[in-house]
Amino acid sequence: MISLQQPIQRDAPVGIFDSGVGGLSVLKRVRAQLPAETLLYCADSLHTPYGGKSPDQIRQRALALTDFLVRQGAKAIVVACNTATAAAVTALREHFSLPVIGMEPAVKPAVIATKSGVVGVLATVGTLKSSQFAALLEHYGRDVEVVTEACHGLVECVERGELDAPATRALVRRYVTPLLAQGADTIVLGCTHYPFLRTLIEQEAGSEVTIIDTGGAVSRQLQRRLAELDLLKRTGGGEYFWTSGEVTQVETVISHLWGAPVAVARLPKESQ
Ligand code: DGL
Repeated sequence: MISLQQPIQRDAPVGIFDSGVGGLSVLKRVRAQLPAETLLYCADSLHTPYGGKSPDQIRQRALALTDFLVRQGAKAIVVACNTATAAAVTALREHFSLPVIGMEPAVKPAVIATKSGVVGVLATVGTLKSSQFAALLEHYGRDVEVVTEACHGLVECVERGELDAPATRALVRRYVTPLLAQGADTIVLGCTHYPFLRTLIEQEAGSEVTIIDTGGAVSRQLQRRLAELDLLKRTGGGEYFWTSGEVTQVETVISHLWGAPVAVARLPKESQ
């Protein structure tokens, strides 16, 4: 177990990571919920996508990125990735003594929202095959039908910044159509990249379908944990970005998705 210097400083930053740029959808929610926090973001672009990797490979990456963020002084970690949470959140909590906030597809609110009794989940194959997802269905999915689509290729579209390209729309249609055909009236965005495709997904699903993502719940959970530990920062703000990938290319995509120009630094060699 790696212990933090005690006491943890209220003014310390919050560390957030994802396989790439998808976690920016969570970063935006955290920024809106906690305007005073300093936020550190790692995009593991060299290793994206995580979806098809083994749980062991994902765990190694999650440990390396968290170690980097802890060395930057993080007081809490947000795993802004459903796939990495499923593979690594237990290991992270064993290795590090700071609060680790993970995320999972929002099946619970979807089960409450559905009227047709059919919930659709869009996610990576890694998330859908995980024991955590099976447990989630066991717990919340008993009284409804949950239909899933493993969305190969969608993460890559977002990584390239192609949010409304014809090829992206064709992929979205391929994954949304079977969910609708099976009667889903509620669709869960079970991957943090997909909120960036929300407009396309809404257009393909139609206005009758409810779309649910997890970013808001994660940022509220972070706020609760920091408040419990008396670690909420009072003033300040600011975001800092790192990537394991090609800096100029990642900087362009992050600036586009973030909605303002940002500087991205390269992760040090030992964290790649
Ligand atoms: N953003 C990650 C998630 O929430 C995804 C993916 C990937 O790299 O496959 O699952």
